[in-house]
Amino acid sequence: MKRIEIINGPNLNMLGVREPGIYGARSFEDYLGELRQRYPDVELGYYQSNHEGDLIDRIQEVGLAADGIVINAGAYTHTSVALHDALRSVTAPAVEVHISNVHQREEFRHRSLISAACRGVICGFGLDSYRLAIEALI
Ligand code: DQA
Repeated sequence: MKRIEIINGPNLNMLGVREPGIYGARSFEDYLGELRQRYPDVELGYYQSNHEGDLIDRIQEVGLAADGIVINAGAYTHTSVALHDALRSVTAPAVEVHISNVHQREEFRHRSLISAACRGVICGFGLDSYRLAIEALI
C-alpha cells in the first residue's frame, strides 16, 4: 500500500471560511473524505499547521517512510528556505500544490522558495490540485 502525506501550511485550516471567492466554500476535512474514498489503496495521511517549525518536523517525521508528500505550504511557499531544506532532506518526492493560480495574483506570490525542492508543481485547479498531485505521485 502506498503512503502519501498531505501537508497543509498556515491558514489552510480556514478553508471554507477564508476568502471563498479564491479558495472555495469547502473545508479541507470534507474534501479529504472524498479523496480517501477515491483512493482506497493509498494510505492518505494529513497534517496541518500554522507554524513553520511544525511543518518542518512533520516533513522530517514522514519524509523517509512515505512514498510521497503533497505540500501546500501556504504563505511559507514564498518565504521559507527552511521548508526548502526540509524537503531536500528526505527521500519522499514532494509535489507542491496551490489551490489558486498564484501567477494570476499579487507579484509576491509568483516566487516559490520550495519549487526547486519538489518533483513538480500544480496550481490553480481549486481543491482538485491535490487530486492531480496524488495522481502524479501514483
Ligand atoms: C495558496 C497560495 C498562497 O499564496 C497563499 O498564501 C495561501 C494559499 C493556495 O493554495 O493557493 O495560503 O498556497
